[in-house]
Amino acid sequence: MRNNMNHPERISINDKAFKVFISQEEIEKAVKSIADRINNDYAGKTPLFLLTLKGAVFFAVDLLKQIQLDCEIETISAKSYGSEMTSSGNVKVKNLDARIKGRDIIILEDIIDSGFTIKALLEELSKQEPNSIEVATFLSKPEMLKTNVSVKYVGIEIPPRFVVGYGLDYAEKGRQYPVIYILDED
Ligand code: IMP
Ligand code: MG
Repeated sequence: MRNNMNHPERISINDKAFKVFISQEEIEKAVKSIADRINNDYAGKTPLFLLTLKGAVFFAVDLLKQIQLDCEIETISAKSYGSEMTSSGNVKVKNLDARIKGRDIIILEDIIDSGFTIKALLEELSKQEPNSIEVATFLSKPEMLKTNVSVKYVGIEIPPRFVVGYGLDYAEKGRQYPVIYILDED
């Protein structure tokens, strides 16, 4: 049984107000659809999932529970935002010590905005000669994209507005909610 009272309709974080934008049902549907595609596309392979901290944690846990492949999981960290709501384009990649060479890599991301973070990650990882690399992102803001990256698995495309919840933060807050909230600008 689902109960809809386990998260508020509106939240406020520091000075900003947010309202529910994507429900748990929609999240589950989007995650299942990516899991089905990956199970199908990687049949017979042993992919290495790279979970980008911290934002992709909720997405990754829900997705990985539905992966029926022989697979491995590692964490990496790539940061492009400080406590601001716009992308800096200044990306730092950390923890990149997983054995990448010859592997089929699937990067798990929370959201693709400008694309700078994922582009930097793809460039770093390519140096280590994987057999293949694909990206699975829970959210994407196509109108914000400023780089030419190819993202094979996208959960939900959203308008170019700031969101929190389900792992995504505003100045490190709001990650814990089971739904996605959008900045309420009215
Ligand atoms: P990009 O480098 O501009 O593509 O930004 C990607 C990263 O910025 C994501 O992994 C998030 O950590 C963060 N980000 C982008 N948009 C949002 C948002 O709407 N809410 C929270 N974090 C975001
Ligand atoms: Mg972030």
